[in-house]
Amino acid sequence: MPYDTRPWKGEIACGSYEFCACGESQNKPFCDGSHEAMNTGKTPTVCDIAETKNYAICMCGNSNTKPFCDGSHKKLPANNPNVTPST
Ligand code: FES
Repeated sequence: MPYDTRPWKGEIACGSYEFCACGESQNKPFCDGSHEAMNTGKTPTVCDIAETKNYAICMCGNSNTKPFCDGSHKKLPANNPNVTPST
């Protein structure tokens, strides 16, 4: 699964959005329907954005506040040289 190790950061305008939760979208952070085409078993995270501003959107799949980044990506082995990936 091509999740990323860092959040997507950028401005998002007010509105209702479907954010990619499977990691396969070619239009991240937004869903492009790849979860259906690739039968990932995941569905997008639907979220109403109430304020136009910059956001950090989780691209690692580990945030507890999806679609927003909560910093969990910092614990990934790829971002933490002190952690050895489990096998
Ligand atoms: S990118 Fe997933 S918690 Fe930050």
